[in-house]
Amino acid sequence: MKIFIDTANIDEIKEAFSWGIVDGVTTNPSLIKKAVNYYKEKGKTFTMEEYIKELLTFVGKGKPVSLEVIGNTEDAMYKEAHILFDKFNNIASNVVIKIPVNPETERGGARLFDGLKVIRRLHEDGIPVNVTLIMNPLQALLAAKAGADYVSPFAGRIDNYLRTNAKIGFEKHDYYPAEGVEWGEKLLSDDGIVSGVDLVASIRDIFDNYEFETKILAASVRNARQVRELAEVGADIATIPFTVLKEMIWHYKTSEGMKKFAADTVEEYRTLFNK
Ligand code: G3P
Repeated sequence: MKIFIDTANIDEIKEAFSWGIVDGVTTNPSLIKKAVNYYKEKGKTFTMEEYIKELLTFVGKGKPVSLEVIGNTEDAMYKEAHILFDKFNNIASNVVIKIPVNPETERGGARLFDGLKVIRRLHEDGIPVNVTLIMNPLQALLAAKAGADYVSPFAGRIDNYLRTNAKIGFEKHDYYPAEGVEWGEKLLSDDGIVSGVDLVASIRDIFDNYEFETKILAASVRNARQVRELAEVGADIATIPFTVLKEMIWHYKTSEGMKKFAADTVEEYRTLFNK
């Protein structure tokens, strides 16, 4: 499974890349806002264009960086996708355009299928597309048929949705079982999907049945155990927040073991390392 980092914060990106485990980056308007506020608080000033150029240059060739449109009509999204791609892809040939599977239709005359139309048009233009806000397997199927290079099922938000509907309290990073949660006589479900991981597993089955090449990029990841379960069900990629990446490496017994090795190091062995 490839690992992307789900952040627009360059400091986090640089740190995670130094660990040698990151294959790409995903951003969205909320993550850009978070990064902009973070650097504003530190008194750093830059234009968005300079910032994105620095990010793309650092990440480099062969490691995709998703940048999202903000419009909601076919025309607006298509135009913005070209602006982003034309402005930035020449930096390191690593720009992927994020398009919502369907846009918010309550403003500006947008229609439910505008996302699919844009995916198809960008695919025809040779621009790589990551289809975002996938909340059910059928949206993934439609996105793949329209020509998506990646689909991003939002695993954590599905878990939140199931818990919220059942009025179960939770903290954002709480674990939610892949196999679902019993509620009364049955499992909590959203049209048969019992968890975010189950959503990814269902998309995996569908894509494998029909040999779609579209990559499953599991997103909205909440904790390390969920990453493990996403890997178990065959997500091609998980895009992971910096805090969750850090959580993945730690184990109590490893720390304990290292303390013991340190305590047991005899002088005879230590002298090997003296220059
Ligand atoms: O990649 C999508 C992701 O950033 C959404 O995560 O935490 O807002 O559900 P979240």
